[in-house]
Formats: sequence, C-alpha cells, structure tokens
Amino acid sequence: MKIIMLGAPGAGKGTQAKMIADKYGVPHISTGDIFRANIKNGTELGKEAKGYMDKGLLVPDELTVRLLLDRVAQDDCSNGYVLDGFPRTIPQAEVLDSELTKLGDSVDYAVDVDVPDENIINRMSGRRACLNCGATYHIVSIPPKKEGICDVCGSDLVCREDDQPETVTNRLKVYHEQTQPLIEYYKAKGVLRTVDGTLPMTEVFDAIVKILG
Ligand code: AP5
Ligand code: ZN
Repeated sequence: MKIIMLGAPGAGKGTQAKMIADKYGVPHISTGDIFRANIKNGTELGKEAKGYMDKGLLVPDELTVRLLLDRVAQDDCSNGYVLDGFPRTIPQAEVLDSELTKLGDSVDYAVDVDVPDENIINRMSGRRACLNCGATYHIVSIPPKKEGICDVCGSDLVCREDDQPETVTNRLKVYHEQTQPLIEYYKAKGVLRTVDGTLPMTEVFDAIVKILG
C-alpha cells in the first residue's frame, strides 16, 4: 500500500503517518525528518537544506527527489510506504508517478488532512519534538506523560526551529502556492481522500482507517 499524506504544515500529517505505519506495517518516510537528521549529523545535505528550512522555504526539488527515490528503493519499502512531506510540488509528484509507472505501480491513496490556517499557528507553537526518535507532542492536546521528556525514548523535547511564528507564516504561504495544487492533481487521478484534521487525533485516525480498510 502506497500512501501519501497531504496537508498544511502542522496539520498532523506526521502524527497520522506514524500511526498508519504502525497499523499497516509499512515504513513512515518523512522528508522533513530525513533533512532534520542530516542537519543534526552535520552532513553536507543537512547544511544545504538548513538554509531553506530556516526560512520556511522548500528545499530544491533536485536535492529532495533523489533522496526520496533512494529511500523508497530500499528493501523495507517492497510492500509499500506512507510518505509524509513528499511530494510537495507538482514536479515532485510527476517524478514519483513516472518512477512508479516504470514499476507497473501507482499511488493508492493521497490522504489530505484538512486543517484551516487559523488552527495552524496554535498547533506549531504548542508542538514539542524529540530529535532523537522523531516522536511529536503538543503541550495541550497531546502532552507527554512527563513535561519536556519523550515518552518513547526519554530524551528532552524541543521546539522545532522552523516553528517560530514568522517562519510558520512563510511556510503556510509556500504551502498554498506550491503544495496545495497537489490536491487537484490527486483528485484528477481518483486517489484523493479528505479527512477533517481538526478532530482529536484518534478520530482523525479512525477516519483514515475507514478509508484504507
Ligand atoms: P516537514 O517536516 O515535512 O514539515 P511540514 O510539512 O511543515 O509539516 P510538519 O512536520 O510541520 O507538520 P505535520 O503536518 O507533520 O504535523 P504534526 O503531526 O507534527 O518539512 C519541514 C521543512 O523541510 C519544509 O519547510 C521544507 O523546507 C523541507 N522539506 C521537507 N520535505 C520537502 C519536500 N518534499 N520538498 C522540499 N522541501 C521539503 O502535528 C503538528 C502539531 O499538532 C503537533 O504538536 C501535534 O502533536 C499536534 N497535533 C497533531 N494532530 C492533532 C490533532 N488531531 N489535534 C490536536 N493536535 C494535533
Ligand atoms: Zn524520543
């Protein structure tokens, strides 16, 4: 099963993608997490990506597409995957489609987690992330058991650098200009499914499970 998560920054794509990956036994692939891991490890890719991410801009397609195609070619992706944060532009979607077509394959579902812009700033300002294992919390709606500590691995939780209000505003603008057109793109292919992302996390997940079966 090949699933794409669509939605604005902070809509809950990562939160739902992890739950889908656990339930359906497919890898969760987040291009944002891959970039953040590269930044943490001080790689060349990380240094290059950081300049764009800190401004709320997209990392150029040349860097992102190769990274994603290498990742989905790995053995653990043979039964499918859930993509979170890719594709983010029409050219990225076209490359993914043409690579899948070569394999006689295609995307099964593009799940749009729909959250209005008004809710996004609150989601971002309350988000706390574990840079060690990738778990994500929200100080009000999805708090960790112990304040500031990751439930999964016990590491300290931090605010993401790109969650500052000015950067969030820019990310939303970039989303509307470059990523939102993918909703029509996948609708035209008949694989778009929309869920109400303003519902509590478990209800959003129930809606997704109904779709995926
Ligand atoms: P990326 O890491 O993909 O960020 P994003 O798309 O902006 O999405 P987020 O991770 O911010 O949010 P999310 O939708 O996953 O929400 P979450 O589940 O955390 O990308 C970062 C940057 O990397 C980009 O800006 C770009 O520069 C670069 N990049 C990445 N991929 C790229 C690509 N393909 N091409 C080019 N550049 C790329 O939830 C948010 C908060 O809300 C959390 O606190 C969570 O706990 C809470 N929450 C979740 N669900 C609910 C709920 N139902 N109710 C209440 N709270 C909830
Ligand atoms: Zn952790």
